[in-house]
Amino acid sequence: MRTHYCAEINESHIGQSITLCGWVASRRDHGGVIFIDIRDKDQVLQLVCDPADNTTAHKAAEGVRDQFVLVVTGKVRARGEGLENPNLKTGKVEIVVDEIIIENRSLPMPFELGDMKVNEEIRLKYRYLELRTQRSYDIFKLRSKVTMAARNALDEMGFLEVETPIITKSTPEGARDYLVPSRVHKGEFYALPQSPQLFKQLLMVGGFDRYFQIAKCFRDEDLRADRQPEFTQIDVEMSFCDQEDVITVAERLIYEIFTKNGLSVPTTFNRMTHTHAMESYGSDKPDMRYDLAMVDVIDIFERCDNEIFSGIAKSPKKNRIKALKVPNGDNIFSKRQMKGFEEYVRKFGAQGLGYFQMKEDGLKGPLAKFFTDEDLETIVERCQLAVGDAVFFGAGEKKTVLDYMGRFRIFLAEEMEIIPKDKFEFLWVVDFPMFEVEDGRTKALHHPFTMPKLTENGGFDFEDIEDIQSIAYDIVLNGTELGGGSIRIHKEAIQSEVFKLLGIGEEEAAEKFGFLLDALKFGAPPHGGFAMGLDRMIMLMSGTESIRDVIAFPKTQKAQCLLTQAPGIVDEEQLKELGLRIRQTQNS
Ligand code: AMO
Repeated sequence: MRTHYCAEINESHIGQSITLCGWVASRRDHGGVIFIDIRDKDQVLQLVCDPADNTTAHKAAEGVRDQFVLVVTGKVRARGEGLENPNLKTGKVEIVVDEIIIENRSLPMPFELGDMKVNEEIRLKYRYLELRTQRSYDIFKLRSKVTMAARNALDEMGFLEVETPIITKSTPEGARDYLVPSRVHKGEFYALPQSPQLFKQLLMVGGFDRYFQIAKCFRDEDLRADRQPEFTQIDVEMSFCDQEDVITVAERLIYEIFTKNGLSVPTTFNRMTHTHAMESYGSDKPDMRYDLAMVDVIDIFERCDNEIFSGIAKSPKKNRIKALKVPNGDNIFSKRQMKGFEEYVRKFGAQGLGYFQMKEDGLKGPLAKFFTDEDLETIVERCQLAVGDAVFFGAGEKKTVLDYMGRFRIFLAEEMEIIPKDKFEFLWVVDFPMFEVEDGRTKALHHPFTMPKLTENGGFDFEDIEDIQSIAYDIVLNGTELGGGSIRIHKEAIQSEVFKLLGIGEEEAAEKFGFLLDALKFGAPPHGGFAMGLDRMIMLMSGTESIRDVIAFPKTQKAQCLLTQAPGIVDEEQLKELGLRIRQTQNS
């Protein structure tokens, strides 16, 4: 229907007759002359309807309202002196309208398009209207370009795009499964994949060597600002590789994706062990755009005169005492503020938060009296304190201290506004523990198919199961976990042993993962890979705060689609066909 998109029109078209299609972004009646801003997918252009030029077109323009759908024909002309709009790409020209066809009318908008302060429930109910905004278009254009760049880069590196099943058997990644009842096999269920993990491993057994997929994944878990129940991964697997090979592919992929979209990133990223990340930053995904690293001071506190601290310091394996230096902190924070920080860390299990201030005449503060002058000096050296700095201390059980001090680090960085907004700081976190124990239960930290670091003769040797490391790595970008991966177990005996350590009995392993254990017996090659969260990547690239902004039709924090009203009730007949009956409980 159109001859041009709005964005194409500039001074070189002056005098030409063109046809544009789009929506009315705004309409102004200037006592006779009507100005309409028409907007198509990504640009606005000014239309002028002057009764002196064309009475029919002007009459039609009188009936036009916001978001009506128009097909407009007219002549391009230069805007009058001083009437140019430097904020618009098309701001030097306008269209003198000859004909307006109203293709469709629109109800008044239920909210002002583009106003992000409007209640999100309304914006999600009418998501298709929000998609009409420039901001949305830009995000989805970027998303499309990113997947295109990823496909091209992986294709060039010899990866084959293969689709894996959506209705399948459970592929565990630590969340609950979404289940799909089978009509043919009553009482049985498919699970939606939490990731294509097992299928991509089977493709390696199938000899494909290099696989990728832009894969939909489904996880029934508690939602946060960067989590959705249905999300997309750039999923990669390769054979006959070690960790270095996989990292090289991932770095090249990220480099191609970012640079093809005008963002500059390095060709290789820094690395940090999981232990270092936890001990220095209290997180397995530290934001490296700013420093604020923690320092261990448990040995100094062991000698202090305060029984609580020295008691904690007596068990250095179980406990931690960490110092967090804030450069210039004594100058920028008031005493009251410093005390107030304690309230923040208490929310995460801290018993308290000690602090020192670095004054001209040495370390001062409520804790100073418990230390000898010599030990105060050691603290100054260990933390590299200068006059005007403040230093905070967290003491207690290891996991709790690392967690709240890590959160406190981020909290301080935000308070002090020291986080650069336009920087991409990538980091590989490597050497993850294989297992973690929570409430007495042993779980795989990544997933159970990750290769543990074995002893020289290929076995397990450990005192504490949490000390076993794995060949697993995460890609962190600006403090967000962008992706993760590992070298996989390709030998059946090791896989069975790992299941055993996870408390999965032989029968259960055979029932849940028998197909994988079988496949590993038929010449499975050494293999490994990774997956990156596409939605998170787009969030970071576009600087959006919510994952919902980068998904065309997202779910709410309560996993509902407000547009279609999913999930919804199904009728009795459908349930019967599936062999299901809804049990009424007291709560329902
Ligand atoms: P993992 O579970 O770490 O690894 O997932 C990889 C990446 O997917 C993204 N992601 C999510 N994004 C949005 N919403 C969610 N609910 C969500 N969950 C995960 C994150 C994460 O880093 N099979 C392994 C990968 C492998 O080992 O190859 C896996 O799925 O960015």
